[in-house]
Amino acid sequence: MLCSYLKAADPAFNGRGYRIFDSFAGLSEPKSEDTIDDKDSNAVRLQRMSQQGAFAASLDEVKRNLAEYPCIEYRQGWIPESFPDEPQARYRFVHIDVDLYQPTLDSLEYFYPKLVTGGYIVSDDYSWPGARKAIEVFVLRHRLKLRTTPTGQAYFKRGR
Ligand SMILES: C[S@@+](CC[C@H](N)C(=O)[O-])C[C@H]1O[C@@H](n2cnc3c(N)ncnc32)[C@H](O)[C@@H]1O
Repeated sequence: MLCSYLKAADPAFNGRGYRIFDSFAGLSEPKSEDTIDDKDSNAVRLQRMSQQGAFAASLDEVKRNLAEYPCIEYRQGWIPESFPDEPQARYRFVHIDVDLYQPTLDSLEYFYPKLVTGGYIVSDDYSWPGARKAIEVFVLRHRLKLRTTPTGQAYFKRGR
């Protein structure tokens, strides 16, 4: 969806500058922070969706779906080990969608220092208990102004 918006803005967009970090093997192991409250009306469904391996889609399948954007850079592996040591790298927009506490916190810690002034980090997962905790811990630590959407996302902008 993000690529299709970029292509709508620039028909020559071919994925250059766009990176995807994913295990392509589904979720990593949930931790205590990811526990779904049994009292939640959706507990059974959410517990199934937050198990290790949930949402697995192979690298080949993802590449096939994004074939229109051949210059996307794919980084397969577990977060945070798959993050490259690139002190000079800078990002303008980061979309985090890994559902769980630890990889969400690891992603925020890795990308925030690399975000340009005025750049945005968006999390898809403010309605997931683990990711929500990670976002709140991070935002408090860095005194960031968090904004949320009615559909369960949260985002903030890097100031000066
Ligand atoms: C809900 S899916 C979202 C995928 C994609 N953003 C989408 O909307 O189709 C969550 C993704 O996080 C990945 N993931 C979860 N934990 C991870 C970790 N520790 N390291 C790398 N990828 C992880 C899973 O493989 C999965 O693709």
